[in-house]
Amino acid sequence: MKGVGDYMKISNKMFEALVKQVSHEADASQLYLAMASWCESSGYSGAAKFFYSRSEEEREHMIKVIRYINKIGAHATIPDVKQPPVNYDSFEAVFQLAYENEKDVTASVNKTVNLSKDEKDHFTFNFLQWLVDEQLEEEQMFESILTKIKLIGLDGRGIYILDKEISEMDN
Ligand SMILES: [Fe+2]
Ligand SMILES: [Fe+2]
Repeated sequence: MKGVGDYMKISNKMFEALVKQVSHEADASQLYLAMASWCESSGYSGAAKFFYSRSEEEREHMIKVIRYINKIGAHATIPDVKQPPVNYDSFEAVFQLAYENEKDVTASVNKTVNLSKDEKDHFTFNFLQWLVDEQLEEEQMFESILTKIKLIGLDGRGIYILDKEISEMDN
């Protein structure tokens, strides 16, 4: 009798890499949720709105990868999520950590794209292109927020302006 895996149109190694990507998206969603909650309870309502929305978007990415894995005849297993930090040193530290996280995810996406090239796995190579674009967009977004934080500064009026601007970046 044939199991689900027998219809799998990708290699085992590629399957593992995609499952790891599901994990990255799940962890990012949970991290941004923790950041949203910290921002909200610290009075940064604009940044909180921003991170709640980032968290939703990472969840959508996760589901997209899960559904691709199932589509190519495998079974996407659902991973445990990493406990995100509860407290953050500052408003700036939150964005710095989010940026570092996106850079790590990009590195992992790039490795998976390289693997799809090595294996001449055109299905997966094509599928991953939206994620490559997405990573560039997200890295740029966090970079621009960090630049603004440095330019405007975080004392008094500065944080008020930044929090408001970040809330408008949400859509
Ligand atoms: Fe993502
Ligand atoms: Fe992301």
